[in-house]
Amino acid sequence: MKNDIEKIFFTEEMIQNRVRELGRILSADYEGKVPLLVGVLKGSFIFLADLARYMDILCDIEFMTVSSYGAGTKTSGEVKITKALGSVIENRHVIVVEDILDSGLTLEYLKKYLSELNPASVKICAFLDKPSRRQVPIIADYVGYECTDAFYVGYGLDYAGHYRNLPFIGSLKPEIYS
Ligand code: XMP
Ligand code: MG
Repeated sequence: MKNDIEKIFFTEEMIQNRVRELGRILSADYEGKVPLLVGVLKGSFIFLADLARYMDILCDIEFMTVSSYGAGTKTSGEVKITKALGSVIENRHVIVVEDILDSGLTLEYLKKYLSELNPASVKICAFLDKPSRRQVPIIADYVGYECTDAFYVGYGLDYAGHYRNLPFIGSLKPEIYS
């Protein structure tokens, strides 16, 4: 698996240092509030697992699944919820946890959808942010790292379902796509 990687952009150490920082920041910002972390499956599962363990306040955890890129590397532009939330978010402080903010279409849709369920607040925490690709003006409230316009795998991010279990984030050798 590691032989398929062309370049490492974010090492395991960089990732863990930054997620630890984000955990501290969220713990301070949400002190006394018991936020509800909503992970967007599947990409966010590793980030959310680390982030939650770096938080030292009470929190609840939920997951949603939205349709995304399928096996390709370009967004279809269409967002569909395929696994709904398992709990009521009315009056809750919701933090949507995403692997990467790209065109922004997914999070724009999700933020609107969740806001209509009357939460106390909705914020977005994305590990990577690719601002150059934005199609809608959405900004994440908490970001791990800004990144350039490449296709990334690892730390939850996949190509055709694989590479999510890499502890670092990198790009694939071109021959892997062919
Ligand atoms: P949008 O465009 O709606 O997309 O902001 C967010 C979702 O797109 C996927 N995505 C990626 N997945 N490597 C991936 O494995 C990438 O470089 C990448 N860029 C976007 C991802 O599922 C994210 O939730
Ligand atoms: Mg995703």
